[in-house]
Amino acid sequence: MSIVYDAAARTLTLHTRESSYQMQIGPLGHLLHTYYGRRAEGDFRSLHLLKDVGFSPVPHELDGETRGWSLDTLPQELSGANSGDFRLTSLCAVTADGRRGGSLRYVRHEIRRGKYALRGLPAAFDPDGEAETLSVTLADEALGLEAELLYGVYESRDLITRAVRVTNRGSAPLRLEKAASCCLDLPFGDWDLLHFHGRHAMERQPERVAVMNGVQRIGSGRVSSGHQHNPFLILCDKHANEDAGDCLGLMLVYSGSFEMELEQDQMGSLRLTAGIKSEGFSWTLQPGESFDTPEALLCFRHDGLNALSRRYHRLIREALCRSRWSGAERPVLLNNWEATYFNFDHRKILSIAREAKELGVELFVLDDGWFGRRSDDRSSLGDWFVNREKLPGGLEPLIRDIHALGLRFGLWVEPEMVSENSELFRAHPDWALAVPGRLPALGRSQLALDLSRREVADWVFETLVGLLRRYPIDYIKWDINRSLTDLYSQALPADRQGELAHRCTLGLYGILERLTAEFPEVLFEGCAGGGGRFDAGMLAYFPQIWCSDDTDPIERLTIQRGTGYGYPLSAVGAHVSASPNHQTGRRTPLDTRAVVAMAGGFGYELDPGKLSEEEKERIRVQIARFRELSPLLREGDLYRLTELDEPRDFEAWQLVSADRGESLMSLVLTHPRANPRPLHLRLKGLDPAARYRVERLDLFDAFLPEKPEPLPEIYTGAALLYAGLTLPRMMGDYPSVQLVLKKAED
Ligand code: DGJ
Repeated sequence: MSIVYDAAARTLTLHTRESSYQMQIGPLGHLLHTYYGRRAEGDFRSLHLLKDVGFSPVPHELDGETRGWSLDTLPQELSGANSGDFRLTSLCAVTADGRRGGSLRYVRHEIRRGKYALRGLPAAFDPDGEAETLSVTLADEALGLEAELLYGVYESRDLITRAVRVTNRGSAPLRLEKAASCCLDLPFGDWDLLHFHGRHAMERQPERVAVMNGVQRIGSGRVSSGHQHNPFLILCDKHANEDAGDCLGLMLVYSGSFEMELEQDQMGSLRLTAGIKSEGFSWTLQPGESFDTPEALLCFRHDGLNALSRRYHRLIREALCRSRWSGAERPVLLNNWEATYFNFDHRKILSIAREAKELGVELFVLDDGWFGRRSDDRSSLGDWFVNREKLPGGLEPLIRDIHALGLRFGLWVEPEMVSENSELFRAHPDWALAVPGRLPALGRSQLALDLSRREVADWVFETLVGLLRRYPIDYIKWDINRSLTDLYSQALPADRQGELAHRCTLGLYGILERLTAEFPEVLFEGCAGGGGRFDAGMLAYFPQIWCSDDTDPIERLTIQRGTGYGYPLSAVGAHVSASPNHQTGRRTPLDTRAVVAMAGGFGYELDPGKLSEEEKERIRVQIARFRELSPLLREGDLYRLTELDEPRDFEAWQLVSADRGESLMSLVLTHPRANPRPLHLRLKGLDPAARYRVERLDLFDAFLPEKPEPLPEIYTGAALLYAGLTLPRMMGDYPSVQLVLKKAED
């Protein structure tokens, strides 16, 4: 068993292969945290600070006995409110007669095989029957508040999941004001915070900062996880790097408004809470009703950021994403967005598709503009019928023609939104979110549908079902292009408006749950103006998400690196687009664009009719190469070969197959120098005892000032790991390298 209860010490310990997590039922029944870190056996209660630090309240029952036992200084599993802990709150409720807070004490616990599930929310599952669940029930009798703390333990994956089920055990309604998914108190350590911030077309920029005294917070109030902050963060030891040191990850399986807060308190102890954004949130529970929080995924590794990332990658691919496409080979696609934007017709699309087919593309995706009267982004969202001006014959003949070329067909939709200038809005103006008496803010000239309403969610679902039944569609790109504002639902009573944001997210999940179950063979790609909703919640349904509207490969190096700290390459939509790039104007070599896009769900987004014959030939080779490398790119273990904040002239990463038999190293030179230092790299993840043959070494678009010395054909793993290799000197704008190694037969 990986969950152990010690009745004498009253400790509950969760063990994964490399980590241990312990809690203890305190003398008065408070559930105290004792330890989360590298695997260790023991009773960690002695780590508790039992000292009167002044102005930290003591539970009434202990007065006279000690002044050194305080909720304000002891680490806890789920911090309450209004009962003696002045640090971040995790759970706060208000009764009908105004009793407010949360003072939670142990009632019972249960250890069971398998992984708990959540109601209406995505959560990790148990694909190989190894997971165990710990449920610890706590209660605040005065409020009739019960909190069931749920822990899922994946021993071999080094992952612990958490969620909370809150129940009203009283006889009158109870209003939740805050319900975090997870609270983690870390009394010791010298931590940095690594988080992923950004903006549209510049998502998930990694930033590592020191933890400060006081509160640090990231989050979103946009009812989507947003471009600005990602619901994933890492705490790492000050000295930790990619390959060494303590790292602790926290990822929310949630796509709505969220918050992650960090408080370093007066005694230097750190508290981390994460969950639904509490500002503006409330949820009323009738007697007997329960509320499930979103799930949090926790991982601790003592051996650096690379190891931590790989645990999340594997969990998302194998135990979170339910799509049959998650582990499967995906078709190479070409999307017409950057090729045509809104300006296309049947002929144009078909000619792009024909050219794409000749390049080796397998799936053609028709992006925005095929429906309603949509000729720009100001109209027609909601009118999911064919735009007869652009496609007079409808979609059927187009899809038929595309299928006849031997291509699969994909379609773009933005079903959560409505344009004011649409038949849908004219028929159902109340379906859009808006505060009565005031004009709602617009985003990209559009409004958001109120998915908290069953009839609206059903309409979205039926509309998609209608499209998927009517047309032979192989792939759907599911986009949203605004943040939600003016939160008010015509369908909720006044005292329940605080539920709206979360209800919209639940409404979305309900649609996705039904749709992906009904059309399991359809490949879905998420999108939110690029990567504005790139989170584990969406990845439970969609195996891939368009990573960013910035397709410049040099910008993508940082965006994709940041994304890769938590999310697998197989989830990252990445395309080769035209040069000069449409977002930055930068010119980059075609093969470098492909090297970067191969670190993701590989595709193209350009007009192949504008390519030279030589470029077309290179694309054919790229696609063939991608096919060859695809298992490694999809399932290989990722190693970042450069440190985050070190000054460097290149970005490099490596994929290694699970059996360490095969590896691909990719490198992009970002800053050519006049008199550069040697381009030296130590590889990672290889078997030191094995011999590796250099299968391929491609230096793409490099001007080589000196004739390079040929590299050896065979290396030992140890040589590549410890001595490394020096690549030839390369000059020019953004040359790149791919090095393929295979274990040599003895
Ligand atoms: C935003 C997406 O990120 C783009 O790829 C494209 O689909 C546009 N929306 C279409 O409006």
